[in-house]
Amino acid sequence: MNPIISRLKILDIVPFGRGPKHGFFALRLTPPKWESCAPGQFVMLHPRPAHSEAICPRPFSICKLTDGHLIVFFQVRGRVTAEMAALQAGDTVQVTGPLGNSLPARADRPTLILAGGIGIAPFVEYVDKHPRPATLSVEFAHRHPLECYPFEDIAEKCASRSHLETCEQDRAAFVALMEQRIREFPAAGLILACGPMPFLRLVRDMAAACKAEAHLCLETRMACGIGACLGCVVKAHLPATGNATPVQWSGPAAPPDSGAFVRTCACGPNFRADQVFF
Ligand SMILES: Cc1cc2nc3c(=O)[nH]c(=O)nc-3n(C[C@H](O)[C@H](O)[C@H](O)COP(=O)(O)OP(=O)(O)OC[C@H]3O[C@@H](n4cnc5c(N)ncnc54)[C@H](O)[C@@H]3O)c2cc1C
Ligand code: FES
Repeated sequence: MNPIISRLKILDIVPFGRGPKHGFFALRLTPPKWESCAPGQFVMLHPRPAHSEAICPRPFSICKLTDGHLIVFFQVRGRVTAEMAALQAGDTVQVTGPLGNSLPARADRPTLILAGGIGIAPFVEYVDKHPRPATLSVEFAHRHPLECYPFEDIAEKCASRSHLETCEQDRAAFVALMEQRIREFPAAGLILACGPMPFLRLVRDMAAACKAEAHLCLETRMACGIGACLGCVVKAHLPATGNATPVQWSGPAAPPDSGAFVRTCACGPNFRADQVFF
């Protein structure tokens, strides 16, 4: 479906962790009037389009969508996310969505989910809507206390482990675990990952070494989110047309780009790991 620009009212804004100081929040909004939406898609959100110093909206994964609400889970990083943290129930925000393509979901293949930090957000909706959550397993690496993240929603539906990283040894241990899990993972399995770019690079390289099928959700910086500004390009090699499309495509049309650079917002944000270079 074509993305819709909506003004959505805030139902509530809930700090995660030990109060607002950690800077993690679930923003619960009235549900948008979308015809459809699939896990892995995202929205462009602007908290105060008429009054903010920030000209551009910011991209956020759809963390949860039900008949009663849309939840965006965010971490305060800079100007716009700080403005979002100051919002209150009853305020309205501008939301454009649903945008981008979806994550592949296969009932017939075991799926390993690797998430780093705020990269956990799209997997809340993914696990919730998956046809067979029993086939999923999740490894989640995080630097802030676990209660800062919506991990419980995932852990109650499928086999999930969390790994706190407070020092270089913790990080090295998680990298070793990831390598082992990817190596063990059956050829018929699927690997999905979302997190910081260095983390995604590691997953991509490990999956390539094991010839495993991996899909990455790229959180590149975006300005327009709708394919107009070229602010989000990554180097890629995508098939131009037809059934060779790398991931389930739920965007407005088949990916328009092929060749050296693609727009993450229009052709992703979900890509097969062996087709993007960053
Ligand atoms: C498809 C997609 C889905 C996303 N989903 C979520 C989500 O569910 N929850 C969430 O909290 N964030 C998510 N992000 C990242 C989010 O868009 C940024 O954190 C946000 O744009 C920061 O805006 P800001 O104005 O607060 O920070 P800015 O003032 O724009 O930047 C502050 C600092 O954060 C860094 N930064 C900004 N954007 C990114 C980025 N994309 N990746 C790495 N560093 C960045 C900047 O380099 C700078 O150092 C997603 C991004 C994409 C592309
Ligand atoms: S953010 Fe403008 S083209 Fe992708």
